Amino acid sequence: MDFLKTYATLIESEIHQLNLPETPKTLYEPQRYILASKAKRVRPMLTLMATGMCGESIEKGIPAALAVELVHNFSLIHDDIMDQADSRRGSETVHIKWDESTAILSGDGMLIQAMIQLHYVADNVDHKKLSRVFLEGINKVCEGQALDMEFENRLNVTPDEYMDMISGKTGALISVSLVMGGICAKADQKKLEALSEVGYSLGRAFQVQDDILDVIADPEKFGKKKGGDIYEGKKTYLMLKLLERCNKEDGKWLINCLENKAMNQDDVLRVINLYEKYGIIDDAESLMKTYYLKAEKALEIFEETKYKGDLLQLINFLKNREF
Ligand code: IPE
Ligand code: IPE
Ligand code: MG
Ligand code: MG
Ligand code: MG
Repeated sequence: MDFLKTYATLIESEIHQLNLPETPKTLYEPQRYILASKAKRVRPMLTLMATGMCGESIEKGIPAALAVELVHNFSLIHDDIMDQADSRRGSETVHIKWDESTAILSGDGMLIQAMIQLHYVADNVDHKKLSRVFLEGINKVCEGQALDMEFENRLNVTPDEYMDMISGKTGALISVSLVMGGICAKADQKKLEALSEVGYSLGRAFQVQDDILDVIADPEKFGKKKGGDIYEGKKTYLMLKLLERCNKEDGKWLINCLENKAMNQDDVLRVINLYEKYGIIDDAESLMKTYYLKAEKALEIFEETKYKGDLLQLINFLKNREF
């Protein structure tokens, strides 16, 4: 983690300097609260690394890095309302600590704060391109989130549909983080396309892993409730595989549970046992590894620089993450 320290310190100090106003309290306190909670800062790190990898000093990528972290935190506040999640990063979620209306508005406010950051990007950067990539990316996140919710009410979601959904909800912002870093370094189209591909593969790997961690992680470390996806009837990769693979008896019970939409703690534990019984976690881990590998492959067109080395190390850190 030491090699990431430099990035993390820089990002934390920039977040600190955002200087959000004190009032109105219900708008800015939740924003300060979520920004101060323990986060990995993966997306802004990716932006800075991409800027460096494309030959520019990483300082040039700072406003874009802040923009993606702000959008990410906005998406988490709203996601936790949608997913009825009570804890995030080991603390109460915004809509629990305050209320839903406060969470909606402070989330909206953070999205605007993110857009304001784009005004601080250097004049000689292509602002039109930067904002197009940014806004189209956020729109893809919304599309992914819509599919994620729609799938809660369906039992016949296919693996392709799942991949499209996670490419939107998680892949798009991770991809945008890298591409914006590249744009801040005035990288050519070929490099931007490669960065986009790295981002989508990384994002897919990252979300499959998030699905796995939902059931196997130590909730103390992961900071979210164990089995949260199962309670919510989410069509994670694990759930799709289980529906496909389980025997008649287990299938009947599972479908009944999912249709009634009222899983209790015992049901959730039984689902986790079924994941183990049918080797579903191994399956998901192998899919995750495939996408991490794809991300590394797509990086091959970049010259060997310190920044590329840092990005490869970040990928390695992510592969083994427990939170
Ligand atoms: C959580 O993202 C949301 C997903 C896309 C799975 P992170 O795991 O990057 O969350 P923080 O910012 O480190 O808390
Ligand atoms: C996260 O998906 C996607 C966005 C926040 C856009 P999840 O719903 O799986 O993320 P967690 O598990 O709540 O962090
Ligand atoms: Mg969600
Ligand atoms: Mg969620
Ligand atoms: Mg999740």
